[in-house]
Amino acid sequence: MGNAQVTNEGNRPQISEQQKAVEEDLVQRVLESFESTEDPRLKFLMQRLTVHLHDFIRDVRLTEEEWDFAINFLTQVGHITDDKRQEFVLLSDTLGASMQTIAVNNEAYANATEATVFGPFHVEDAPKIENGEDISFGAEGQPAWVEGTVKDTDGNPIPNARLEVWECDEDGMYDVQYTDGRMSGRAHLFSDENGEFRFWGLTPVPYPIPYDGPVGKMLAAVGRSPVRAAHLHFMVTAPEKRTLVTHIFVEGDPQLEIGDSVFGVKDSLIKRFDEQPAGTATPDGRDLGDKTWSRARFDIVLAPEEA
Ligand code: BEZ
Ligand code: FE
Repeated sequence: MGNAQVTNEGNRPQISEQQKAVEEDLVQRVLESFESTEDPRLKFLMQRLTVHLHDFIRDVRLTEEEWDFAINFLTQVGHITDDKRQEFVLLSDTLGASMQTIAVNNEAYANATEATVFGPFHVEDAPKIENGEDISFGAEGQPAWVEGTVKDTDGNPIPNARLEVWECDEDGMYDVQYTDGRMSGRAHLFSDENGEFRFWGLTPVPYPIPYDGPVGKMLAAVGRSPVRAAHLHFMVTAPEKRTLVTHIFVEGDPQLEIGDSVFGVKDSLIKRFDEQPAGTATPDGRDLGDKTWSRARFDIVLAPEEA
């Protein structure tokens, strides 16, 4: 746990009582402007946003140039965003806002598997594979055999759970980042009658989030790396169970020490991808020739829907 300074108490400049009254009066008037909002949740959100936003401006004694800069920055975030590039999500991710929202909405429940950030690279229509088949569809990388179970929090297997899996290739690129319309490094499959699943994928590698836009500039300005720790994405759904959006990370990945640019790592999600020398017999008899490969296990526990 770091010990970065999170309050500004010691640094607040002294302001006169008269100035304080002017600032607080404005906060009150903005709060009152939302008083007649019909929707109680909207009213609550707008009033609390007012409190926190004004507190931030007053806390840091925001200059007009800084506010102009911030508005210009958000304008650039908007301009680069389209149906393929979602810079606002990247901003939310790199500020930890996505992970905080996940934390608030996925409270730890018994031994249920932890959730992490969704990311922008999921697509709806990934192909279906049978257990034991390959999600790579031509994506290059070291083959990885991934197997595990889907169970409920009482340890009962969940047959027929739907698992969506997706990952980048060995160059750190997702299929949707290429311009040739390929669909690779992704698929969906279903757990079998014992709640077990298995598939071939690729050993995950670290890769940078898109950093050629304003969010990349922000990361450079503060000396932060855009790189994400190596991971394989999962979305797991089953009737009456809370949908699980998560990843598994690779034990020993040096990026785990350096830090994940979107704060997605949780210790419980770090798994061994055991490296297998070339020629080691594969679980399904597949001949990988002179390729090395890895194998990983991920036992998934789904919380009940209402948890
Ligand atoms: C990803 O894991 O795919 C991802 C997550 C957050 C931002 C960018 C990419
Ligand atoms: Fe990813």
